[in-house]
Amino acid sequence: MIVPVLLAGGSGTRLWPMSRGLFPKQFLKLVGDQTMLQATVARSESLKGVQPPMVICGDDHRFIVAEQLQQMGQQDATIVLEPMGRNTAPAAAVAATLVAEQHGRDAVLMLMAADHVITDAEGFARTAEAAAELAAQGHLVTFGVTPTRAETGYGYIQTGDAVGTGFRVKTFREKPDAKTAEQYIASGDFLWNSGMFVFQAGTLLDELREHAPEILDAAMAAVSQGQEDLDFLRLDKDAFAKSPEDSIDYAVMEKTARAAVVPLSVGWDDVGSWTFLGTVNEADADGNVLQGDVLTHDTTNTFVRSNDGRLVATVGLDNAVVVDTTDAVLVASRDRVQDVKAIVKQLKAAD
Ligand code: GDD
Ligand code: MG
Repeated sequence: MIVPVLLAGGSGTRLWPMSRGLFPKQFLKLVGDQTMLQATVARSESLKGVQPPMVICGDDHRFIVAEQLQQMGQQDATIVLEPMGRNTAPAAAVAATLVAEQHGRDAVLMLMAADHVITDAEGFARTAEAAAELAAQGHLVTFGVTPTRAETGYGYIQTGDAVGTGFRVKTFREKPDAKTAEQYIASGDFLWNSGMFVFQAGTLLDELREHAPEILDAAMAAVSQGQEDLDFLRLDKDAFAKSPEDSIDYAVMEKTARAAVVPLSVGWDDVGSWTFLGTVNEADADGNVLQGDVLTHDTTNTFVRSNDGRLVATVGLDNAVVVDTTDAVLVASRDRVQDVKAIVKQLKAAD
């Protein structure tokens, strides 16, 4: 038995102007004709013994999530509402608590970010089966992606001895500084953590008890004092607020001795910024990725996306990103797309 648990609480500010506070990226159709949340659910549907998914999201987004699941015929999904974001460790603790209650401590959870693109669905399903087997032996299983640059926004995994179809994790290091990341890449010894995890409910609960007891206590109280509201499970606000804010990577993965990794080579991208357009699309001979109604002249290495049927034209541009929407247009240097969140900050300050 395996329960897909989707973490859909992110804000996606670097994908402005498409991604907005009330409608962040995980609920958008950025690739293909499904939203990122729906594509993530779809990826889990082929797994052996799969149960209806559990989605954990912010209160503001409950109706978007409900509607998108309904469109997929996922009437039996559980939707858990967080009164505030406390990062991924409390969300994972809530999920493990609920799954242990409903299906027992041995049930396997697959914790998935709701905003990743995976181009090879079959390859993913095979890797996920291997991960589930290792999880059933008591490992906290990660998916390791071969790194291509010294990215400081990811976790890094050093592989150890072989176990099953994967490896034990020798070192897990979340978001290293640039110098450390470069050393890791140069050593050839490290994989990126993809941000998906497979484990038995009981395994995570034990590790939280040992390494992050305050998070576990708050999550368990938020569940037991939580309330059913229509089709939603609303976590108790006061209880959940007591949880420290931390990610599962820092709170558990860096500390546990039970981590394992299975290599994942399936065209993965975490769709963190607009450069993802270059990962999921083949660039043309000029290095451009052009989507929608777009005309170019002397334009190279540039991504242009017109979303609203308006014609967008570029002349003499190199290394740029242009994203057009109904009420806002982004024009940025490709090297600076990480800083798009600075615009969102200015917008919030002006509110
Ligand atoms: N429900 C809920 N509540 N979901 C959340 C919350 C929260 O408070 N915070 C984040 N999420 C969701 C995000 O929407 C995303 O789908 C996922 O959890 C991961 O959170 P991020 O904030 O995007 O994490 P990250 O990108 O900094 O780092 C993680 O992912 C990297 C790969 O993309 C880590 O696992 C890294 O080790 C990993 O390399
Ligand atoms: Mg992320």
